[in-house]
Amino acid sequence: MANTAPTRQATTNHEGLLAWVDEVGALTQPDAIHWCDGSAEEYDLLAQALIDAGTFERLSDVKRPGSYLALSDPADVARVEDRTFICSERDSDAGPNNNWRDPAQMRETLGGLFRGSMRGRTMYVVPFSMGPIGSPISHIGVQLTDSPYVAVSMRIMTRMGQAALDALGSDGEFVPCVHSVGAPLIDGARDVPWPCNADNKYIVHYPETREIWSFGSGYGGNALLGKKCFALRMASVMAREQGWMAEHMLILKLTSPEGEVSYFAGAFPSACGKTNLAMMVPALPGWRVETIGDDIAWMKFGEDGRLYAVNPESGFFGVAPNTSALTNANAIDMVAADTIFTNCARTPDGDVWWEGLTEAPPAHATDWRGQEWTPDAGRPAAHPNARFTVAAARCPSMAPEWEDPRGVPISAILLGGRRASTVPLVFEARDWEHGTFLGATMASETTAAQTGAVGALRFDPMAMLPFCGYHMGDYFAHWLTVARREGARMPRVFHVNWFRKGADGRFMWPGYGENARVLAWVFRRVAGDAEAVDTPIGLVPPIGDGGIDTTGLGIDGETMATLLEVDTAAWAAALPEIRAHLARFGDRLPSELAAQMDELERRLAAA
Ligand code: GTP
Ligand code: SPV
Ligand code: MN
Repeated sequence: MANTAPTRQATTNHEGLLAWVDEVGALTQPDAIHWCDGSAEEYDLLAQALIDAGTFERLSDVKRPGSYLALSDPADVARVEDRTFICSERDSDAGPNNNWRDPAQMRETLGGLFRGSMRGRTMYVVPFSMGPIGSPISHIGVQLTDSPYVAVSMRIMTRMGQAALDALGSDGEFVPCVHSVGAPLIDGARDVPWPCNADNKYIVHYPETREIWSFGSGYGGNALLGKKCFALRMASVMAREQGWMAEHMLILKLTSPEGEVSYFAGAFPSACGKTNLAMMVPALPGWRVETIGDDIAWMKFGEDGRLYAVNPESGFFGVAPNTSALTNANAIDMVAADTIFTNCARTPDGDVWWEGLTEAPPAHATDWRGQEWTPDAGRPAAHPNARFTVAAARCPSMAPEWEDPRGVPISAILLGGRRASTVPLVFEARDWEHGTFLGATMASETTAAQTGAVGALRFDPMAMLPFCGYHMGDYFAHWLTVARREGARMPRVFHVNWFRKGADGRFMWPGYGENARVLAWVFRRVAGDAEAVDTPIGLVPPIGDGGIDTTGLGIDGETMATLLEVDTAAWAAALPEIRAHLARFGDRLPSELAAQMDELERRLAAA
């Protein structure tokens, strides 16, 4: 299908950009180059090209207007953390949290792989702004990619096209991002629906020169380079240098029954509930949640010393499985049209399906591998990391101010993860330093969002383990440093856990809309209207008055007590692991966190 794709000429006089596009074109040797304008017409043309190539299937115009289903190669279904590299000049600057490679050597390796890698394909020039165009918090990138699937996805996920080019002007700064699926079409070779490279995958960042190079994968964070590569790994490096924060956090607006507003950010690891919390329909009457962002927060200080957050993205790349009208009604509304589905199952009536969408599965479906599926197949119909890609503008719960270039002031940061045991439903840090310690020592069970084992408990500091572009000891120090800025008024820090399991292996807490009960307590704490009990690990809501409102919840007192209990023996037993985790950061571990560790040990021993 090499020559059926549209082509469009450059519409910029940015010399540096033009020279770089020429240079990458000479290296990768595409058949054609197309400068994306980001228009609806262009989107439709590319979607048609994707249908012609067999990548997209158009869904029923009745069931899902304007929507498509893509099934990936079965070996290209999630982020590849073991193939993700930080190539800083010095090994020690990447830290134990990253795979480091010598930048000169990596350039040589990639030079070989990218040489001719776009032959037979079109190279798309994708200019994009992370953050509202023109906001002082925003930054611009340009991605070169040989994947039209990536180009259309970038139009949804970012402010993509001519407007970003215009904002760049003739000499603006941009982060160059080069992406190839690594499957050149040579000698008339036929294309496959989901080209990728089975043998070579490289997701590479050069932090000092601010370049991103990605080879071999077409999926999610491996390929949509504005997201994890730019907005987290590269931006975390920029944020540290410039005194701001780039975090793997949702941003929500919470309105109380009295009409008062607070904005919270939430750092939960991949597939641990950010999208769901950001779009929640509260089960607690009178409370309202609205959405600012579901995955990434860029936060800079305002003149009042508070942290103001923007969502750098303009769309959602959300986990499909278990998204239903009961768990996330806003998401169900938003994906009703104009959505790209990836690795979901297809029903005979031209719609999509995934586990948990409906209580009763369809009698027949085509699974994410394209095979006939029935409920007794003994395997899931949708891949566990199946996703929807949809514009934020389609989400009914977006707050009107979600594109405010000034951002929104953050009152609380929630840290969380999947913890089957030990970690209570919610507890509060004593202060920012203790909150930084809670973030630095948080752990979560792994999910299908990354390749590898699912359900393995690992430390994932601030949900940034796979996304911090530099040494994590320095990142902890950065958290402590920003709070010392003159006049800084930092958010309060809380830790939440929706995923505690009972002896029967089931979740003890109903989650989803019921999480509003926890948000309400956090809101009241920040306002100075709720009680807390001092414990060795932090401040926990009391059972009853001043604690979590359980009116109408139908959970028994014993379960609630277990959910809020601080099991000092279990925490004491975990101390050696936590100590060993912190020790990995060697002499870059801030002394404040070492002191927090000693304090925790002392408090537990005294309990
Ligand atoms: P990424 O996009 O990978 O960063 O994920 P995320 O943090 O946005 O997670 P998301 O909200 O998509 O949730 C991931 C999975 O966890 C989905 O299958 C959800 O249905 C499930 N989930 C979310 N919130 C809850 C909850 O409160 N309780 C339970 N039991 N499951 C939840
Ligand atoms: C995550 O894994 O945290 C995601 C999905 O948000 S991806 O874009 O693939 O990184
Ligand atoms: Mn994420």
